[in-house]
Amino acid sequence: MTQLASSSITPVYKPSRAWNHRTPDLLEKTMTQIQDYVNSRREEWLEELKELLRIASVSTDEARKNEVTRCAELVSERMRQAGLDAAVYPTGGHPAVYGERLGAPGKPTLLVYGHYDVQPPDPLDLWRYDPFEPTVEGEYLVARGATDDKGQFYSLLKGVEASIRTRKEVPVNVKMLIEGEEEIGSPHLGPFIRKERERLACDMVVIADSSQFAKDVPAITYGLKGLVYLELVVRGPKKDLHSGSFGGAVANPANVLTRMIAACQGPFGRVAIPGFYDDVRLIEPWEREEFAKLPFDEEEFRQAVGAPKLFGEEGYTTLERKWARPTLDVNGFISGFTGEGAKTVLPSVASAKFSMRLVADQDPEKIAELTRQFLLDIAPDTVEVEILDHHGAKPVLVPRDGKGVQEAVRAYAKGFGKEPVFIREGGSIPVVNTFQEELGARSLLLGLGLPDDDAHAPNEKFRIEDYYRGMVMMGELLGELGK
Ligand code: BES
Ligand code: MN
Ligand code: MN
Repeated sequence: MTQLASSSITPVYKPSRAWNHRTPDLLEKTMTQIQDYVNSRREEWLEELKELLRIASVSTDEARKNEVTRCAELVSERMRQAGLDAAVYPTGGHPAVYGERLGAPGKPTLLVYGHYDVQPPDPLDLWRYDPFEPTVEGEYLVARGATDDKGQFYSLLKGVEASIRTRKEVPVNVKMLIEGEEEIGSPHLGPFIRKERERLACDMVVIADSSQFAKDVPAITYGLKGLVYLELVVRGPKKDLHSGSFGGAVANPANVLTRMIAACQGPFGRVAIPGFYDDVRLIEPWEREEFAKLPFDEEEFRQAVGAPKLFGEEGYTTLERKWARPTLDVNGFISGFTGEGAKTVLPSVASAKFSMRLVADQDPEKIAELTRQFLLDIAPDTVEVEILDHHGAKPVLVPRDGKGVQEAVRAYAKGFGKEPVFIREGGSIPVVNTFQEELGARSLLLGLGLPDDDAHAPNEKFRIEDYYRGMVMMGELLGELGK
């Protein structure tokens, strides 16, 4: 990660007003062949995406295992249809799909990464339609996985197909790895990549699994947050007790747990775990200036999330907090009586799932250890404490003058009619660092989604126009990289 997070990040593209894109000369020409081809396939390729979205490939759900595998098979079939040599590969967990088209000796090799697994659809009653019956609503396609990540990776695949059909051959070597375990932290993909290091060898990785900055403001993402996900379990008496007869004489695990969690945070969300900020790379002045130029309205954002007031670390703007400052959030509490009415009980156990989002150059293992130490230090001896480890990810910060970035800027200009802005994101993609470490390849994060797509939430959606624009962008990117 230290390699990736090199301090030599120099902005290569610094527009005076980041959102005031100029129209590149390229666009004055008539439509490109790729554009023509994509346009001629619109309906057909929307139907194909719907077919993919009808498969409930929920990776956390053991009961859906067959559907996950069926989805892998369909992806593999679609890769072959696009002109790639493709197959489903066992990983020890959910299978991965890999395909390649190596028609350009001497030219760069691109590895496209994405995931065909999706988050559970719950809570079901909040969906306007069946989450696995993709439905067109205005300019969007609504379904679980529409934006995360089926719609996005499929757009790239179709871009590759458009390139093969219009150019007869790919201008660069294309490899494609679509996995089925991203939403559970990619537990088997690291070993798979290590084992298949030669097969996967590439000059760069292209990923569409994030967002544009806003509608019609396409963006290249150069930073992702890292992740540490822990669970704190506090055990007290061997069984639930009457809170009147025993309260005050026996420590209540729920009371202890909430105090311990509260001790992890100071005012304004500052993390209070000693050493937590030691390796945090400060936001550089040029970066702050750039963030400030993006068309972002804090009040509009507040209304969109529907919170009474915005919140966060003092001295930082909302975008800085979202993209470049580490955070701690409780994801869920479990303890005691939560049913209707009131029950006076002193619960025997309490637990909390909580996660920390990290920024360069924080190391998830080090942060997990600091957190464990801190919690054990403050735990009273009236209870037993256990700390469980869930998944993690290293933060990502890629140099903006890296391989392929300028080509991607030009490809966006052709696909979206505008040059992209450069952004960071708060989400995590665990495998990005594995690509760097195992293949020595940097990732280009070419997000096609929108910030309000409701990924992981009910009524997840993907803008249909951006599905097509992504294809054109991808087709043109191959051409640019092959020049
Ligand atoms: N596509 C997201 C990652 C993402 C989200 C990138 C928002 C940029 C903006 C990915 O599918 C995801 O949900 N990742 C998880 C981490 C994983 C270990 C479960 C996340 O960020 O919570
Ligand atoms: Mn995703
Ligand atoms: Mn996701």
